[in-house]
Amino acid sequence: MRVLQISSEATPFAKTGGLADVAGALPDALERAGCDCTLVVPAYREVFEKNLPIQKTDMQFSVPVGQRNLEATIYSCSLPDQKHNVFLIGNTHCFDQDTLYGGAEDYADNAERFIFFSRAALEVAARQPHAFDIIHCHDWQTSLVPAYQKLLYQSWPTLSEARSVLTIHNMAFQGMFWHWDMLLTGFHWKYFNWRQLEFYGQLNMLKAGIVFADQLTTVSPTYAQEIQAAPGGCGLEGVLAGRASDLTGIVNGIDVETWNPRTDELIPRHYSDDDFKQGKYTARVALAARLGHAAPDDRPLVAFVGRLAEQKGVSLVLDLLHRMAGSGNARFVVLGAGDPQLQEALKVVASEHPGAIDVVIGFDEVFAHLIQAAADILLMPSQYEPCGLAQLYAFRYGTIPVVRATGGLVDTVVDVNDQTRADGTASGFVFQDFQSASLEEAVQRALAAHGNKTLWQDLVYRVMQQDWSWEVSAQQYQKVYERALANAPADVVDVR
Ligand code: ADP
Ligand code: GLC
Repeated sequence: MRVLQISSEATPFAKTGGLADVAGALPDALERAGCDCTLVVPAYREVFEKNLPIQKTDMQFSVPVGQRNLEATIYSCSLPDQKHNVFLIGNTHCFDQDTLYGGAEDYADNAERFIFFSRAALEVAARQPHAFDIIHCHDWQTSLVPAYQKLLYQSWPTLSEARSVLTIHNMAFQGMFWHWDMLLTGFHWKYFNWRQLEFYGQLNMLKAGIVFADQLTTVSPTYAQEIQAAPGGCGLEGVLAGRASDLTGIVNGIDVETWNPRTDELIPRHYSDDDFKQGKYTARVALAARLGHAAPDDRPLVAFVGRLAEQKGVSLVLDLLHRMAGSGNARFVVLGAGDPQLQEALKVVASEHPGAIDVVIGFDEVFAHLIQAAADILLMPSQYEPCGLAQLYAFRYGTIPVVRATGGLVDTVVDVNDQTRADGTASGFVFQDFQSASLEEAVQRALAAHGNKTLWQDLVYRVMQQDWSWEVSAQQYQKVYERALANAPADVVDVR
């Protein structure tokens, strides 16, 4: 099966969050499962700063975006140990910028940038010698791809028979733009209607994907249910419920090579389930040194690593720090970047408790690995969480997650209680209500469990044994692809 993956970010090229981890690892997992996979990503400025074996190809063409023709320069990259092809789409005006999507404010021309990218990705595919069976796109940035394939690229032989799949990683980001951006898409105005591209007077790219893709997936079964109702669907719950029979929840896998304490080059001492104590201690010494402390103390280390966004429950973390930092029975470390107000609030609470809290603002892969290795407990008090990867990385590194029961966290973390301890499924501490007191109670339970050496050791040992590799998820994606190929393409409703 020939599969084209189109994503606005993928490791090791460019990353702002979990989408990059998924788009970076899934193509290779699909190759191992027998697919022939090609990945297309933007050639942002940062991809050229990473010493990757990127080469310019002789493919160059122009893409109509509204009144303009934007020139696409195509690069390729063969990653060591990975079999899939990678194409990168370059255009100085669209992608030669400091960040992927903007800073405190999104870039004003994001509609143009990702319309260009979506069309250029299909043009690359159209120029390949073999036809694709599946075109798989991710999130709003590439959500127009199924509509392009059905409406504008039907006559290209390499694309005409393909079926499209959209994976939704986060319903809160829909790519909504003012209605005049319809002119940039090249679509007829008749598609700007309540059943297709229009949403409360705006152009909604994610909605276009939900309507036009042949199959839909999201990144956990629980999130697949949540998004079919308010508030999870963020306004598109009705559209999603209308496509319930084509929507599948597949929990993300993780890249078990990159996130492996036995081989991780970003941690000071490799470890496995039988010497995790030494491994974690050495990581803690290194972390203390990086944070400017003479030595680590012996209190349990509670960590948060993630985007500083309301989604991630940072307000609950802030309350927790205010309430618990003075108690002296835990140490806290926070790594994150995002909302300037949350960054500032975290810095303030850290300055009030210098002996108990470290806050690192920034996006730093090395720190992320070091913290996962050094910490005892990882906080994920998310308001909503489509899948979540940090808890799966935590398992690998013998770090026990404290999570709110939402989305993928429900599907991946099993609360520690007498029964789950007895049947060996316990893997973390789960709380229900999105409230500071509920998080605090769960953290207190975790700290009490940490004080019970046998219980903790057993728990760490078990979570480190868990297998969240891509193999199972890749098979589930293959089933979705097979279903897409077995069915007729989703109808294009003609609304007049
Ligand atoms: P999301 O995609 O919603 O941000 P996930 O848990 O799926 O959440 O994935 C987050 C990914 O981004 C993980 O790989 C995590 O380690 C990484 N990450 C988040 N914030 C940072 C940061 N400040 N520095 C380094 N890595 C980070
Ligand atoms: C999104 C979600 C996160 C998920 C990631 C990868 O960013 O917020 O929960 O793990 O995508 O699918």
